[in-house]
Amino acid sequence: MHRREFIVKSAIVGAAAGSFPNIILAKKNKIYATALIGTGWWGMNILTTAIASGSCKVVAICDVDPNQSRPASEKIKELTGTTPKIYMDYRELLEKEKPEITIIATPDHWHALPAIKALEMGSHLYLEKPIAHTIDEGKAIVAAQKKYGGTVQVGLHRHVAPHNVAGMDFLKSGKVGEIKMVRAFVNYDYHERTMRPDMESPSGMNWDMWCGPAPFRQYNPGIHPKGFRNYLDYSNGMCADWGVHWMDQILWWSEEKHPKTIYSTGGVFDPESPANAPDWQTATFEFESFTAQWEHRRIGGAKSEKHNIGVYFYGTKGTFHMGWLDGWTFYPSARGAEEVHMDHTLHAPDDQNIPELWDNFIKSIETGNKPAADIENSQYATNMSLLAMMSYKLGRSVNWDGEKQIIIDDQEATKLMRRAYRKPWEYPQF
Ligand SMILES: NC(=O)c1ccc[n+]([C@@H]2O[C@H](COP(=O)([O-])OP(=O)(O)OC[C@H]3O[C@@H](n4cnc5c(N)ncnc54)[C@H](O)[C@@H]3O)[C@@H](O)[C@H]2O)c1
Repeated sequence: MHRREFIVKSAIVGAAAGSFPNIILAKKNKIYATALIGTGWWGMNILTTAIASGSCKVVAICDVDPNQSRPASEKIKELTGTTPKIYMDYRELLEKEKPEITIIATPDHWHALPAIKALEMGSHLYLEKPIAHTIDEGKAIVAAQKKYGGTVQVGLHRHVAPHNVAGMDFLKSGKVGEIKMVRAFVNYDYHERTMRPDMESPSGMNWDMWCGPAPFRQYNPGIHPKGFRNYLDYSNGMCADWGVHWMDQILWWSEEKHPKTIYSTGGVFDPESPANAPDWQTATFEFESFTAQWEHRRIGGAKSEKHNIGVYFYGTKGTFHMGWLDGWTFYPSARGAEEVHMDHTLHAPDDQNIPELWDNFIKSIETGNKPAADIENSQYATNMSLLAMMSYKLGRSVNWDGEKQIIIDDQEATKLMRRAYRKPWEYPQF
């Protein structure tokens, strides 16, 4: 059924859906000196939104690949009339420019050190998800935020998307009944799996710096740009990529913070390939009051299932699907009861809600209120995916004490909470 054929029923849905096209995000009086570290696909998505909001002046950008930062700089000149300074080392940028806001959209293995440095230099921070590559890196970022006090917004824009907010209100209203089981999933074949030969890195690029604290490997166009997601040295696969958005929705609904026991399994089609992020994976999370599941697969296509991305919340009154391009839908169990649906409220061209998240970020800076996707809740969502990956690597379940942020009675798993950094990089202290 086409989504336009659904009937929008509830008042809450009507109000949110009807008002969406008219959302006006307040223009700010203050203009913040802003820097972007990581000028790839998503970094430029955030920055162009920030520029459009009228609340930022781009003072500098940084990328280890001039083939990324050069076109980014041209785009900024086109949008603002001013050319930002270009750096290849984030430390130099942060020390020289001291931006009021730093946006970090580097690959996942490069989140912790620049984030901590930006906070140390007194910047507010818009940090991409997952917040870190290991659990201990996440702890270090949270500790740095507490120590230095900047406002940190994490790029979990689904936490402010009007359709997600309205869907969450519907879920929390009790209309779905008692929910004991939820299932998050991304069944989406969107990354090239064909390996291309290793080669020299693009001209002018500092490939050693791209690898940074993670293991060094020869450049491959399948890794950069964007392809780092396929390599566990630089990411934690789909579970920590898209998965974190949906883990966040689960935690938001449940108001629990931590799973107690986590088990994950999955695999790769080609065990010889260095692109070793799982091609399929399931994970089960035992929470205090409910069970959560995660599933992703990059096979089978999406056509056989009504929804291929999102979270199902299974309640005693029916099933609620929180989705992406398909908005949200409640399928009541009662015979004859009509479905309730709300279309998505995403922005083109990349189907996101960054304007709302940026607006919330600026308001949080100005009011001192907690941002919608604050660092601690985003750390909990990130931890869910990192714990699943830990179990996947170990091949057995792990028990987690979320309050203390420790693995219970398992030295091998505890070791996976961090990893050795490649010299000269030093693991962040906390
Ligand atoms: N919130 C969302 O919905 C969303 C969507 C897409 C991507 N992301 C996140 O954004 C981040 C970037 O993803 P992408 O798809 O834009 O990747 P990308 O490869 O297109 O861009 C990353 C850029 O960072 C640069 N970089 C690497 N190391 C660097 C360093 N030390 N200093 C400066 N620059 C460095 C790379 O050269 C590259 O240009 C990831 O963490 C990803 O999870 C979030």
